[in-house]
Amino acid sequence: MTRKLFVTTALPYANAAFHIGHMMEYIQADIWVRYQRMQSEGGVPREVHFVGADDTHGTPIMIAAEKEGITPQEFVAKIAAGRAQYLDGFHIAFDNWYSTDSPENVELSQGIYRRLRDVGLIQTKTVDRFFDPVKGMFLADRNIKGECPKCGAKDQYGDNCEVCGAAYQPTDLVNPYSVFTNATPILKPSEQYFFKLSDPRCFEFLRDWLNTPGRLQPEMVNKVSEWLGEAGEKLADWDISRDAPYFGIPIPDAPGKFFYVWLDAPVGYLASLKNYFSKKNIDFDAFLNDPAAEQIHFIGKDIVSFHLLFWPAMLKFAGHPVIEKLKVNVHGHLTVNNEKMSKSRGTGISPLRYLNLGMNPEWLRYYIAFKLNSKVEDLDFTGEDFVARVNSDLIGKYVNIASRCAGFIAKKFDGKLAPQLSATALDWIRKALTDADGAERQASIAQSFENREFGKALREIMEIADVTNQYVDENKPWLLAKDADKTAALHEVCTTALILFRQLTILMSPVLPGVAANVRTFLNDERFTWADTAVEAASSAMLGRTIGAYSHLMTRVDAKMIEELFDAPKAAPAPAAAPAAVAAPVAAAAPVDGIEALAPEIKIDDFVKIDLRIARIVNCEHVDGSDKLLRLTLDVGEGRHRNVFSGIKSMYQPEDLVGKLTVLVANLAPRKMKFGVSEGMVLAASSADEKANPGIYILNPWPGAEPGMRIR
Ligand code: 2FM
Ligand code: ZN
Repeated sequence: MTRKLFVTTALPYANAAFHIGHMMEYIQADIWVRYQRMQSEGGVPREVHFVGADDTHGTPIMIAAEKEGITPQEFVAKIAAGRAQYLDGFHIAFDNWYSTDSPENVELSQGIYRRLRDVGLIQTKTVDRFFDPVKGMFLADRNIKGECPKCGAKDQYGDNCEVCGAAYQPTDLVNPYSVFTNATPILKPSEQYFFKLSDPRCFEFLRDWLNTPGRLQPEMVNKVSEWLGEAGEKLADWDISRDAPYFGIPIPDAPGKFFYVWLDAPVGYLASLKNYFSKKNIDFDAFLNDPAAEQIHFIGKDIVSFHLLFWPAMLKFAGHPVIEKLKVNVHGHLTVNNEKMSKSRGTGISPLRYLNLGMNPEWLRYYIAFKLNSKVEDLDFTGEDFVARVNSDLIGKYVNIASRCAGFIAKKFDGKLAPQLSATALDWIRKALTDADGAERQASIAQSFENREFGKALREIMEIADVTNQYVDENKPWLLAKDADKTAALHEVCTTALILFRQLTILMSPVLPGVAANVRTFLNDERFTWADTAVEAASSAMLGRTIGAYSHLMTRVDAKMIEELFDAPKAAPAPAAAPAAVAAPVAAAAPVDGIEALAPEIKIDDFVKIDLRIARIVNCEHVDGSDKLLRLTLDVGEGRHRNVFSGIKSMYQPEDLVGKLTVLVANLAPRKMKFGVSEGMVLAASSADEKANPGIYILNPWPGAEPGMRIR
């Protein structure tokens, strides 16, 4: 039976551009999809449908649109228009990109809801909800702030505290206020619709579903089993309704009530598939009822509860047949230099900046693939590691094979490969493509791709590259080319090397689709399939073939690009790391009588724009990989701590600074740096003549000053 796969990635909120974490997930899923597309059963290619969509509903998008003075529909359309540059840029080949704000999603979400209601899994309850009396609307968790009930930190959201990490209900906040009007919200009773996850049917189904072998990663089975409890006692009913005004899908027969965004978001997977099928004339219902159909979601670890509790239960009890073949692949998060990326702070690498710097998208695809396995582990992007991995593997091991051999075929043999090979050459091909036990690597590499062990697959592929390079190094085509008597040997060596280069390309084509397309042109191949990766297929397909002209496939990563990738754009404010930078206009001026020239005169209004505060240095440490910076953790009396980098390492030992007071520019825009985000700048004095006095001296207020006091 030919496998039929319906593959998705998590639907991104339509309130912002993609960040690098999105690209990681898309790259992971795209590699898996491309691998599947090379496979066939009994000569029939697998049917693979890969779809995405924008997740459009909910309060944040409604509010963002309101702020811009446009409709939510216009707002999400603007976001949607920006998606292609990222997806095309990184070779992410979705078959369809759609929207949860679509007629298909309305129909499917309402249909699922009706069926859940018919089987008795929807219940209404009246609950107290926070209501902004000035704006006249019920408030979502993130629209309410107040003091953390655990640690007392001010200005914390209604769902969790960013200072101590506690999770709670908005009603637990001390002194709550609406973020829209600052009004104190009032509790208002509201009838809400619940999905009865506490129903014993849900527990029984989920327990069996989770434990079906091969469906989920073992760590996920354990985690979700804990959420179920021994007998389902931990499963709580799920509030699926929100009150108007809300940008969402109306709940049938419930005026003024809308589905909570997380109810219709996963249904958006089906909506996108349905929309795609209607364009392709494929029968949607027949596909869902096809015993060969499988549904596979790629998601991040932060949205597991929605995908491993609510979503399977919804599908099951709404009678969705593919539930039997539903798999969810969970990945960890992408960290940068071992720092957690923060959506709200916008840290990390901008995918567009990456592309605009002229960085090759396939470097990133390879690097991410190399670091990916099937576990729910975070994946760290480190600049030096990225440069080393790409340059060593892709350029040093892979591209190098073609660039050392292709020219001779063109120049000396009219672009024609040797018509046959000696037993020795054939042995080398076999040696490269089989493992130490003599088994063809083809099968184990396929297994690794299938299991999402991409790093393992690439390590094995690089072993093939190593053997190939060993062959080239031993046979030295560049020396053979100098000896007229060795022409036949040169022809054989270059042919053999290019046969293995082609095999490497086919094996890596899920990861490097752009390179693979160029190699197909170069080698005159129409398409690559997994059947082509067999040892037997390797030389027979190539002997005597005329190939095209070779043009360089990929350049090395220039380490300078990495600096650019992390650095703020040139127009950004002066670096927070350089303490003297606040005096930037002065620094540019020539020294006068031993001191720098004064900056142009300013008015008091200019001065008050700079908010200087007393800060206590509660922690200070060296920054790995930096010979200039110290990382300061500062208390500025805000009920949270700030992370600030300062270029004072040459002057101070971290332990000498801990506990001291100093002065911070507190309203400087946070600045993304290579090592994380700097949330302000510590003031320090320095000489314009660095040679005469290279010192940098931080300020230390007189006793009595306290964290948070403003300096006027
Ligand atoms: O966490 C998020 O970004 C959600 N928009 C993911 C939704 S996935 C699916 F359910 F739509
Ligand atoms: Zn707290």
